[in-house]
Amino acid sequence: MAESMKGLKRSHRAAEVTKADIGSTVTVMGWVQKSRNKGGVIFVDLRDRSGILQIIFEEANCGSEVFEKAARLRSEFVIAVVGEVCERAGAVNTNLATGEIEVVARQLRILAESETPPFHIEENSKTKDEVRLKYRYLDLRRPDIQRNMIMRSKACIVIRNFLAENGFLEIETPMLTKSTPEGARDYLVPSRVHPGSFYALPQSPQLFKQLLMVSGYDRYFQLARCFRDEDLRADRQPEFTQVDMELSFVDVDDVIDVNERLLARLFKEILDVEVPLPIPRMTWQEAMDRFGSDKPDTRFGMELVDVTNVVKDCGFGVFSGAVAAGGSVRGINARGQGQMPRKKIDALTAFVKDYGAKGLAYIALGEDGAVKSSFAKFMSEEEMQALISAMQGEAGDLLLFAADSNKVVWASLGALRIHLAEMLGLLDKNQYNFLWVTEFPLLEWSDEEQRFTAMHHPFTMPMEEDLQYIDSDPGRVRAKAYDIVLNGTEIGGGSVRIHQDDIQEKMFEVLGFTKERAYDQFGFLLDAFRYGVPPHAGLAYGLDRLIMLMSKVDTIRDVIAFPKVKDASCLMTGAPTVVDDKQLQELGIAAVSEEEEN
Ligand code: AMO
Ligand code: AMP
Repeated sequence: MAESMKGLKRSHRAAEVTKADIGSTVTVMGWVQKSRNKGGVIFVDLRDRSGILQIIFEEANCGSEVFEKAARLRSEFVIAVVGEVCERAGAVNTNLATGEIEVVARQLRILAESETPPFHIEENSKTKDEVRLKYRYLDLRRPDIQRNMIMRSKACIVIRNFLAENGFLEIETPMLTKSTPEGARDYLVPSRVHPGSFYALPQSPQLFKQLLMVSGYDRYFQLARCFRDEDLRADRQPEFTQVDMELSFVDVDDVIDVNERLLARLFKEILDVEVPLPIPRMTWQEAMDRFGSDKPDTRFGMELVDVTNVVKDCGFGVFSGAVAAGGSVRGINARGQGQMPRKKIDALTAFVKDYGAKGLAYIALGEDGAVKSSFAKFMSEEEMQALISAMQGEAGDLLLFAADSNKVVWASLGALRIHLAEMLGLLDKNQYNFLWVTEFPLLEWSDEEQRFTAMHHPFTMPMEEDLQYIDSDPGRVRAKAYDIVLNGTEIGGGSVRIHQDDIQEKMFEVLGFTKERAYDQFGFLLDAFRYGVPPHAGLAYGLDRLIMLMSKVDTIRDVIAFPKVKDASCLMTGAPTVVDDKQLQELGIAAVSEEEEN
């Protein structure tokens, strides 16, 4: 039976009671973590978001009525306790902030009882994700998740304060809007008033923030919810939060400067970590060549080595053939892994096949100087030695090679490098390696669409010195686009925008947009630009990813209060759900099942 809290007022959170309070009376409220009845004494661990406080019920102090009530307490009951703060009579618990004290209870109210929860509320629970997410409100009681949520809240406040101090205005942009050009699939919302018409939920505030620049709000930011209907992964959710910003009268260096100071402030205030400034910068080309990735993890080496020139005429057809076909051959040296069993190497070969590689050629260098290789028989002794020396191979090393188009070689070896680092335990979550990746290609060839598409979005400014190639060799044009990478995760990205109409027209032309189609999609932006558009640039962070890395967890689900699972459903609410026929009728929508359709 639940009691009211009438007449009581909480004086402290559980872990806010300290040694300084010894001798005073406190009123605490929270959940029973556990309760142990040791005959004449009942020990209760009281939990709230601050931590745990030990409460002692002794009949001599609290009377028999309270003592009997205390004997009924079970895990997750919500209680209020009035008592006196004392030094711990028993052993001091150094694991708890409140480990040197306890509260000797005089009054107890059971504010709510609880059924036995489906899992014990504890740190680092081994409970299956499906159960955790079905009962997310219980999962959110766990101290580790609470720490993540608290860190997220504090981080948002630091970010807001920093940006406000630096002249940014926080402005909201619409959720019900028109499709934005970020390249994922839109979530659509049907209009009742305009049957057959749909709003799109924003994939980002991109167009609105550019319009705000036209309107003169020269520094904007927003903690903006974004929606993208794409395949989910550990670092992707269908709705996620961006720290979104846009600045007028700036160029690349200005955006980078303010963001470096923001990151340094954030990491100092939240983690007490110094971020050395300036953050290193690397061009996209260098990132691909050295790491096979546009988001290199620079916490460890094992860089890619281009051996195309060494093997272009060698006897191994897989290598020379790939070079002849216009591709490349690159390798990585897994130092000290020369003893890796064949089975493990086969598993690595299977791993790279997921990235399009046709195989993984290897040379294992024994400690005794013996050479084992999957392709030695096709090569002369000199060719082998030249290859090993190009890889700086030494006794005990394992050299792994991919031969294919650049794209496949980069993707395979880039992923393999991370995979090996995970296998070998080279990734330290306490080390924070930031990196700017700059000068991305403006355009990307799409085999599917048989045309160039914008790598970032169609409003990204080409590098002035590359504009000359835009007709003759569009793939060569670099963009004024930059990503901020932390430990191999892209935590943010942005660009300088096009504000000159001739360049924008050219861009649409290269992307294969007709004037009509460009106007149909982005007419309001193009119109706005006719009325005085300042040069502008911006960036957006994936807030969830940033907090994930700061919290040292492996998935953004652990830093989002109510996340969705892989199939984009919510296990707690059951969303998405079927709706009433009446609702559909009002919207002028008929749902057709797959069977009916067939
Ligand atoms: P972009 O598409 O690169 O840029 O997105 C910015 C950042 O948002 C994060 N992110 C995601 N996080 C979680 N789940 C997702 N599904 C997801 N998708 C993206 C990433 C990414 O770096 N308007 C531009 C920014 C600009 O040009 O100013 C934009 O949205 O961390
Ligand atoms: P095979 O001649 O197909 O038996 O291949 C000999 C070795 O080359 C094996 O170790 C294969 O995994 C490897 N291999 C095959 N194709 C490629 C490729 N495109 N790049 C790198 N290694 C390859």
